[in-house]
Amino acid sequence: MIQRPHRPRRNRKSAGVRNLVREVSLSAHDFIYPLFVQEGDADESIDAMPGCKRWSLVGLVKEASEAFALGVTSVVIFPAVDESLKNKTADESWNDNGLIPRAIKALKQACPELVVVTDVALDPYNIDGHDGVVRDGEIVNDETVEILCKQALCHAKAGADIVSPSDMMDGRVGALREALDDAGYQNVSILSYTAKYASAYYGPFRGALGSAPKAGDKKSYQMDYANVRECVREAILDEEEGADMIMVKPAGAYLDIIMRLKEVSTLPIAAYQVSGEYLMIKSAAEAGWLDEKAVVLESLTAIKRAGADVILSYFAKDVAGWLK
Ligand code: PBG
Repeated sequence: MIQRPHRPRRNRKSAGVRNLVREVSLSAHDFIYPLFVQEGDADESIDAMPGCKRWSLVGLVKEASEAFALGVTSVVIFPAVDESLKNKTADESWNDNGLIPRAIKALKQACPELVVVTDVALDPYNIDGHDGVVRDGEIVNDETVEILCKQALCHAKAGADIVSPSDMMDGRVGALREALDDAGYQNVSILSYTAKYASAYYGPFRGALGSAPKAGDKKSYQMDYANVRECVREAILDEEEGADMIMVKPAGAYLDIIMRLKEVSTLPIAAYQVSGEYLMIKSAAEAGWLDEKAVVLESLTAIKRAGADVILSYFAKDVAGWLK
């Protein structure tokens, strides 16, 4: 028999054939849409995140409802907190009348089917700008975890569907699960930031919330970006402690980490395309140097291809619109 030439291009020969053999496609349902919220009536633009806003409660509800109508059925909310409400122990983080509980209630009232995810960490409320309590320059673990439990309970009480600890303290997933269960919130889920790396890609986010550390960096709790196997250790612990979903953050430069967690865990894997990733695409597109839509779709498809079941992205609503 004569050896026929291999012609892999036959599977790429037309849009129809490519549609048949495509392995990964994005859907609006894949996304959690991160939204910023602030006090007052103004929806304010964010310099370092063009196209994103710090929403008023009214603006937040409108934006989330529009996203929901496009098929993005989940949001995660982050507060910009006034400096006057910040202190060493982040007491405002578990105030039942605080901005986040009010935002949860407003969202659930307007759109009961919307999945509301909240960030559990102290940095927006902490005068030191760290995710935990700072004592003598150290981020103290166990005292922080106790406050995180109060914060998660406050969010659960207000109606959050999923609480999402982004702080990277040891043992917090188990502590949150126990606190939620003991208070009767067995159905509130935990989406753990399992492999959250100490990353310079978070810069624009910290600018948006005014939450950058006043001193030092986050390297004693967020992971060293030179490490892979450590993500497996964190995933095993989070799974044992009761996480429902585990997250990799950032996403684009950490596709190997997403792949690794997909192999070692049976939990759904989330990945966060963070503010710096957003800004790099957005600023290059605004300068006319990149095709925004094409690069956004490519970057998000790559994150899903690596194994992400859930993607947090500031582009979520745009993408849902494009997919319509
Ligand atoms: C804080 C938190 C951060 C982000 C989400 N939650 C910043 C940080 O850890 O310093 C970053 C999100 C982004 O950059 O888009 N716990």
